[in-house]
Amino acid sequence: MKVIITGGGGFLGSQLTQALSRRPYLQWAPAEKKEISEILAVDLVIPASVRTQASDRVTFLEADLSDQAVIEAMITEKEDFALFHLAAVVSGAGEKDFDLAMRVNFDSTRQLLEACRHTALCPRVVFASSIAVYGGAYTPPVVSDTTKPLPQTTYGMTKLMGELMINDYSRKGFLDGRALRLPTVFIRPGKPNAAASSFASAVFREPLNGIDYHLPVGLDMEVPLLGYRKVVDAFIRAMECDSQVLGDDRTLTLPSRKYEVKEMIRALQAVADAKGIRLGKIIESPDPTIINIVKGWPVGTEAKRAEALGITADQGVEEVILQYLEDFYPDAFNLKT
Ligand SMILES: NC(=O)c1ccc[n+]([C@@H]2O[C@H](COP(=O)([O-])OP(=O)(O)OC[C@H]3O[C@@H](n4cnc5c(N)ncnc54)[C@H](O)[C@@H]3O)[C@@H](O)[C@H]2O)c1
Repeated sequence: MKVIITGGGGFLGSQLTQALSRRPYLQWAPAEKKEISEILAVDLVIPASVRTQASDRVTFLEADLSDQAVIEAMITEKEDFALFHLAAVVSGAGEKDFDLAMRVNFDSTRQLLEACRHTALCPRVVFASSIAVYGGAYTPPVVSDTTKPLPQTTYGMTKLMGELMINDYSRKGFLDGRALRLPTVFIRPGKPNAAASSFASAVFREPLNGIDYHLPVGLDMEVPLLGYRKVVDAFIRAMECDSQVLGDDRTLTLPSRKYEVKEMIRALQAVADAKGIRLGKIIESPDPTIINIVKGWPVGTEAKRAEALGITADQGVEEVILQYLEDFYPDAFNLKT
């Protein structure tokens, strides 16, 4: 079976590509082994660092999913395949450019699902949604699978439309889909992005890089986070699970843990002390715009249906910092010994 990963050059897509390239098969519950013959990772750009870490079963395609010809070349009726659809214009960029968000997040998602439908193979599809589908004055502090979604961004709206399509295409038997509502995922490597949640990764990443970091939120701010390894595991578990257990609701809210920013900083300092890492300074520089956006977000996710599939939150923040060091700084911190 071929596994297709859109957004394979991005943060989560590249981690998923790596995780799958270490596995010989996916297991359709209860006992059908689907051998992975090829992994096709598609993205506008595939960074060199992502290419060099991949096994020889991975093929990379740099292409724009809003080009119908690209989708037709990727998905054909000739071969059994499973699709992880992660490519998206993310929140900040989607707010800046409505047409782009609609074209990539809605039109291309629809075209992809149509291509799946026309293979008549009823492929399994996992779609990366977001807790940005929730919003508005009546959103409770802790959201769950039964909370009414009411997105307050174009990004969140397109994610909700994706979820609804996944549900209906599955109901019609065109494909066998699953959508996961991700909370903010940390620790994103590389450069800061424009998302208001960017601080949740930057507060670790920049000091670990020896760079002083201007923290835009208060130390008491609470945020629900999930580590990237847990998210990759959730994508795979969702792909492998039996659709019978999902019933008529193909969307799962993922678990998270609520952290206060000061707790995150304490954990970072503890890890740095234990590993002998000299951190850049964290300087409180409150940004009222960021604070107001973040204050409007849920502080927790309840995820009973995802947990029933074995999808869990991290034990704590230190665990994720250590994973991040192991994955992204193995030489500098000599942690693989
Ligand atoms: N990281 C998070 O905190 C988080 C939270 C909630 C939901 N999500 C969702 O998870 C998915 C992966 O997120 P991520 O953090 O890896 O984001 P990312 O921005 O690192 O990756 C998304 C990738 O999609 C690619 N892409 C955008 N437009 C494209 C196009 N037209 N054709 C081909 N590729 C295109 C981008 O180049 C990028 O590499 C996204 O769908 C995102 O909305 C992420």
